[in-house]
Amino acid sequence: MILVTGGAGYIGSHTVVELISAGYDVVIADNLCNSKLEVIPRLEEITGRKLPFIQADMCSEAETEAIFRDYPVDTVIHFAGLKAVGESTQIPLEYYRVNIGSAVNVLQVMARHNVKNFVFSSSATVYGGPHFTGIKETTPYHVTNPYGRTKRMIEEILTDACAADPALNVVMLRYFNPIGAHKSGRIGEDPNGIPNNLVPYIAQVAVGRREFLNVYGNDYNTPDGTGVRDYIHVVDLAKGHVAALKKLAEHCGLKAYNLGTGKGSSVMDVLHAFERACGRELPYRIQPRRPGDIDMCFADPGLALAELGWKTEYDLDDMCRDSWNWQQQNPNGY
Ligand code: NAD
Ligand code: UFG
Repeated sequence: MILVTGGAGYIGSHTVVELISAGYDVVIADNLCNSKLEVIPRLEEITGRKLPFIQADMCSEAETEAIFRDYPVDTVIHFAGLKAVGESTQIPLEYYRVNIGSAVNVLQVMARHNVKNFVFSSSATVYGGPHFTGIKETTPYHVTNPYGRTKRMIEEILTDACAADPALNVVMLRYFNPIGAHKSGRIGEDPNGIPNNLVPYIAQVAVGRREFLNVYGNDYNTPDGTGVRDYIHVVDLAKGHVAALKKLAEHCGLKAYNLGTGKGSSVMDVLHAFERACGRELPYRIQPRRPGDIDMCFADPGLALAELGWKTEYDLDDMCRDSWNWQQQNPNGY
């Protein structure tokens, strides 16, 4: 059975769907600090299965122990954590407590129960900037904010843990920019407050909750001057986790893979794809650069193809169509 920590969240919930369709049993644990309980019945509706859900804090040893006592967990996919880059500069200690504390706690409870398989949600943010195209996994760490530092530190903790225990198998997945939603429109990204990320913001403009998109900078060193990122459909990303489980089964030791499309899209490319999806022009205003942003960042996903047999299927139009479908059906989120 797979323990999916943070499984009520955006990427975790989509991964639960793909795990069930690939034949795995799951138990979902989440403290709901950034998600809603409503996700669980919707996952049950999509999968046609009753899904065990435990409201638990992965920083709590007792609450984590109880899950391992009650369910036959043999693998953990660890999504639980805090993820807002800007917020991490305001409350860095909370980011270190939750992200590092939960990872270390889960690994210690796993060790006590002789559970040896771990998939970790890492991030392209470990590569930093300023101008990275076709990023390979061998690119040195260069982090620029506390959130990114928690991801780098956890990768280093996992490296030490694997060195100390040759039976431990860890796949660290470095996600690029996940967007989109399940095609049913029943689950999707539901940020609290004003969205920080591009596509949730555009979706709220399209649905009438915000007046216009702020385009943060049009003087970057990119083809149209706006920032370029590697957007990946969340369902493709979710399938990357199923591929990682197959790798763990080969007793792979420590591995790191980029999960991206290998293709960069600018802010204006994304805006225009979303306009095609919703069938109308969307207002925008050019604003100054957002502090800390880099001009260009996209993956070389070749290693994941070679070693996991995984590659993306969906393009930017698919991603925007599915984001719009979710936003239209759930104008105020869950
Ligand atoms: P999310 O906030 O939607 O999901 C995280 C989930 O973890 C939430 O449901 C939250 O309630 C839960 N959680 C947080 N702290 C917890 C704790 N102590 N105990 C139990 N549950 C806890 O975020 P997401 O976009 O689905 O991201 C999932 C993971 O992927 C995170 O680790 C994030 O850092 C990483 N990641 C996300 C992105 C992205 O752009 N979305 C990019 C790279 C990496
Ligand atoms: N952008 C706008 N307007 C907005 C929001 C974003 O123009 O309202 C621009 C940004 O300047 C950037 C691009 O859209 O050029 C993408 O910005 P996002 O905030 O959507 O994504 P980031 O690449 O900044 O960061 C995301 C996650 C991080 C993660 C990183 C790398 O938020 O957690 O991808 O994986 F670390």
